[in-house]
Amino acid sequence: MSRKQVVLITGAGGEVGNGLIHRLAERDGYDILALDLKDVDDDTGARCQARIVGDILDQRLLERLVSEYEIHAIFHLAALLSTRAEFTPETAHEVNVRGTLNLLKLAVEQSRWHGRQVKFLFPSSIAVYGLPDLATKDAAGAVGEDDHLVPTTMYGCNKLYCEHLGRYYARHYRQLAVEGEKHGVDFRALRFPGLISAFTVPHGGTSDYGPEMIHAAAQGEAYASFVREDATIPFMAMPDAIDALLGLMDAPAENLTSHVYNVTAYSPSAGTFAELATKAFPKADITFKPDDKRQGIVDTWPAALDDRRARDDWGFKAAYGLERTFDEYLIPNIKKRYGV
Ligand code: SER
Repeated sequence: MSRKQVVLITGAGGEVGNGLIHRLAERDGYDILALDLKDVDDDTGARCQARIVGDILDQRLLERLVSEYEIHAIFHLAALLSTRAEFTPETAHEVNVRGTLNLLKLAVEQSRWHGRQVKFLFPSSIAVYGLPDLATKDAAGAVGEDDHLVPTTMYGCNKLYCEHLGRYYARHYRQLAVEGEKHGVDFRALRFPGLISAFTVPHGGTSDYGPEMIHAAAQGEAYASFVREDATIPFMAMPDAIDALLGLMDAPAENLTSHVYNVTAYSPSAGTFAELATKAFPKADITFKPDDKRQGIVDTWPAALDDRRARDDWGFKAAYGLERTFDEYLIPNIKKRYGV
């Protein structure tokens, strides 16, 4: 009995999943198996070979997937984001770490079945970094992949450990066994900055003030930012994030010198976001009411990322600068979305 060949996307209904499915579906030869706790919307679902409502912690469900589908690549996007994770750290660990372990195991098993390496694309995050104080953050400038890896959030700890797990599965899995894995897992991770989509609003992240501010401004709703005006972390428009995922997937293995790559586009302060949002949507009503604790998390994240490794190894370059993000992507699409 032949199984259907697919690309598995977990967290398919989330912000990145949505964008990714639309782009992958435009490519030939990628049948998509979408998995999420909640069903994906119908427009997205129509682009998938199959959509499954289920939990990545449900071993039986994963086993069923293995019996029905031949999985050649996995985009493991499901996660509990940084703010939400602080309310239920142990649950976050389960979802973010054990969920990832389940998927890595599934990837190895799949590779044994069909005799090919399974590509495993993993979105990591700026949350893996932890700067001890603002003076260090200011002095650090654009942080490279190997520095300041002392995260203070459960989510950051989870992502950093999962990068290590991925590297372990790709290079050292069962290293004492008589016979090594013939094919195994080709693990590739991107450390994303805050992401901004014109079509969806994030939930449970700490970089959410950027997108929340813009979407509120477009709807003429008052918005009180939970970070200070001068709070600065890197951001990127969703189309560039999707391009980065696809670019890393397509990169020839021999060009890759690492399993983990920073990617970034720009680093506006929250105040600059507010100015741009107000310029685009004059009815915006944005104020700043910092929540010391969430601000504290943002203060530990770098103000900028050094993405030279991604540029050098696989030619990454963000296409959307800050102005272009607003002028060509956010404003027209958000206006359409809210009918303003
Ligand atoms: N944007 C995410 C968050 O804020 C970080 O990866 O949690």
